[in-house]
Amino acid sequence: MRLLVTNGELITPSGPLRADLLCADGVITGVLDTGTRVDADERYDAAGKLVFPGFIDPHVHSRDPGLSHKEDFDHSTRGALTGGVTTVLEMPNAVPPVDSAEVFEQRRAQHERSAWTDFGLWGLALGEPNLDQIGPMFAAGAVGVKLFWGYALHRETRVLVYNLGDESPDKLLMPPPNGQVLRLFAEVARHGGLLAAHCEDKDVLATSQELLGHPIESYQDLLDARPAAAEATTISIATEFAKATGCRFHVVHLASAAGLDAVRWARRRGVAVSAETCPQYLTLTDRDYPRVGPVMKVYPPIRGQADQDALWEGLAEDSIVSVGSDHAPHTVEEKSRGFATQPAGAVGCETFGPVLIDAMLRGKITPARLAEVAATATAELYGLYPGKGVIRPGSDADLVIVDPEARRTVRNEELIAKQPVSPWHGVELRGAPVATVLRGEVVVRDRQIVAPRRGRFVRAEHAARSTASAQG
Ligand code: DOR
Ligand code: ZN
Repeated sequence: MRLLVTNGELITPSGPLRADLLCADGVITGVLDTGTRVDADERYDAAGKLVFPGFIDPHVHSRDPGLSHKEDFDHSTRGALTGGVTTVLEMPNAVPPVDSAEVFEQRRAQHERSAWTDFGLWGLALGEPNLDQIGPMFAAGAVGVKLFWGYALHRETRVLVYNLGDESPDKLLMPPPNGQVLRLFAEVARHGGLLAAHCEDKDVLATSQELLGHPIESYQDLLDARPAAAEATTISIATEFAKATGCRFHVVHLASAAGLDAVRWARRRGVAVSAETCPQYLTLTDRDYPRVGPVMKVYPPIRGQADQDALWEGLAEDSIVSVGSDHAPHTVEEKSRGFATQPAGAVGCETFGPVLIDAMLRGKITPARLAEVAATATAELYGLYPGKGVIRPGSDADLVIVDPEARRTVRNEELIAKQPVSPWHGVELRGAPVATVLRGEVVVRDRQIVAPRRGRFVRAEHAARSTASAQG
């Protein structure tokens, strides 16, 4: 099967390039002068369009199995695909969680049956309870292991406890103490893997809540109860542990200027710390709360304009290397509950591409940098490069074709998510992904799926990469 994408502007690692792109048997086989005559089974005319590497969303909670009334892998990957995502990295906190190689293999087999995008899998790092599973999960191809640092988990189900009053204390599994976390860093380093964490210090959170002196009622209360110091403190501890052990550490959903400063401090000293942020932190602030409402409740919280401005700077200067949606659905009913008692999290994998494209067309980020943070650098970080994340011969022919002239308004009624409540409901976005190509096949045109489901598992190759760089 040969697909020829003609007349488009390709966003390649060496810059934008007007060229035709030939894909055969699922991979990119040629970057050709526009108008070169070649045989192809299918042609896509991309005149006036930008052709990006397919987006990789490294931060998706599909709740499947166990909480599939909130979302499932069929819906999350179908939504992601229509928004230009060709690979998702699925978070481990379903029920049961992916905390061993055995569950990893079961989850892989399960998701292979329902994936619309290609997918990788995260493992869950609990500290002492599954330290012996870190190596086996990386051997099975985990993209990283995630520590919900700062979160209490439900003792039996390991579901996150969003509001401490929700559960009796004997049901809570508190985050591991720092000594255990240090061991975890050493173990991940031993396997050449990647450790990522939710960075909010539980003691800083607890004291801040006490200082607030009353339950969370307003958006400002939420910000006071979960201050940026909670994020920066955790990143600083992690930096010392990464330095001491040589472990690569990744901050997911970085949300504050203070947290970014801690990441910069580490990187300037050559410590292997990197960060991800999310479209919600880049495009919303506390000032949007009156319009958006409690749907905006996510952890860590969306802060003020100064924080947002800092995150854009961090993204441009390469302290923040990757963007993920943190697609974290809850039911419509849960999200319409009182602010203090509702769970944190918002849907986002199908608006991930569109919101970032809109930001690009507003001049917040260049097309080349968008390709890096939404595809190339993400693939590198998670051991998927060069198979994924880049337009170059030999790589998988995963593409998203973007029309910069399109205008689209996000509407909950049009979302694929099982629980369609988006913080961007009613927002008009500039530009739009108009086609998605997965391994050489046009699978989406104008948000309609036009090909059968064919997502497959992608294995991360971390150890191989570190050996290669040690030799190189
Ligand atoms: O808001 C959030 N929701 N933040 C997280 O870290 C987890 C997520 C979830 O899984 O619900
Ligand atoms: Zn998350």
